[in-house]
Amino acid sequence: MAKKTRLLIPGPTPVPPSVAEAMARPLIGHRTQDFGDLYARLQSKLKKLFGTANDVHILTSSGTGGMEAAVANTVNPGDRVLALVAGKFGERFASLARAYGAEVDTLEFEWGEAVALDQVGERLNQGKYKAVLATHNETSTTVINDIRSIGALTRGTEALLLVDAVSSVGGAEIKADEWGIDILVTASQKALMVPPGLAMLSVSPRAWEAVSRAQSPRYYFSLPAAKKSIIKHNTPYTPAVSLFAGLDVALDMIFAEGLAQVYQRHQTLAAATRAAMTALGLKPVAPEVCASPLVTGVRAPEEMNADDLRRIVVQEYGILLAGGQDRFKGRVFRIAHMGYVDAVDMLGTIAAMEISLARAGQPVRFGSGVAAAQAVFAGRK
Ligand SMILES: Cc1ncc(COP(=O)(O)O)c(C=O)c1O
Repeated sequence: MAKKTRLLIPGPTPVPPSVAEAMARPLIGHRTQDFGDLYARLQSKLKKLFGTANDVHILTSSGTGGMEAAVANTVNPGDRVLALVAGKFGERFASLARAYGAEVDTLEFEWGEAVALDQVGERLNQGKYKAVLATHNETSTTVINDIRSIGALTRGTEALLLVDAVSSVGGAEIKADEWGIDILVTASQKALMVPPGLAMLSVSPRAWEAVSRAQSPRYYFSLPAAKKSIIKHNTPYTPAVSLFAGLDVALDMIFAEGLAQVYQRHQTLAAATRAAMTALGLKPVAPEVCASPLVTGVRAPEEMNADDLRRIVVQEYGILLAGGQDRFKGRVFRIAHMGYVDAVDMLGTIAAMEISLARAGQPVRFGSGVAAAQAVFAGRK
């Protein structure tokens, strides 16, 4: 039998059949009423998802393009920017701002730790910043940061809060307006269950003021150009029409399940995965208080390379797990549980992991990880 592929990586994630079906429909022209109606529908759904009254712009690009749009349109060369760096994606945001000529101060944290709020508060008291760059769900370390509290700190300052929520929107609560997020960026291929190719971002009135004064050169990622088009429910350049159609259906699925239920499902999947790994004697990377509901990083057994374990799991069971990045390479593997993922997916993955650990010569009591996850799913833990 041809092996089934199961994507348990933090993007791209599995695409539901109804989303795939929507993307396979005959294309519509992007300068038509039909497309305008589609973009208008997406607007109202995305506003609800982002928790914002502001327009949510959809760019045809991956998430990094959305991050670039956020920086290029607000940060001028020489502006002071504070980057909160607790992993690879925090680093990326900082280097992006450097590429646009910003004077970037970084506040760095150990990989596996959350951004410490007291340190952010101290830095904001010490200096004047044009912007603070933060990562909501740091996919590389599987830690979720407290953006609500970071927003409470930046709100009283002149700094704009730019948030990379690429791997969280659709799987973890976020409220752009209430939390004081000036630009919130996400992407299609993670919790939103759509293939890669769309970045979405909301822009606060305060951020628009900065956009109007921005001096960095930009063209494809020009937010004023996007603003001009969105009035007509359109985009300045040819959008990835099929992905827009897929997103329309994916957002319907999210709202049909209910936002609170979607967030709870992710929490439960994370708790079950964590319990299973712990029962197998493996150590999750993130402390429980800041563990991501979307992806769980696990340290490989001391004497084993995490990538060897991943190789067995994918070769034998078609389950693709993510490796560790940078300093975590070979030491950590990551199990994503974002988007179109349910309890059965996780139980199967945990069972496959048990067999793979045994194949690799590790001591395993078969069923111990699965039982720990079952207890979580049964509400006994
Ligand atoms: C937290 C975070 N930020 C940014 C990105 C980059 O997004 P993309 O690969 O879509 O450009 C990712 C992708 O893995 C991510 O997880």
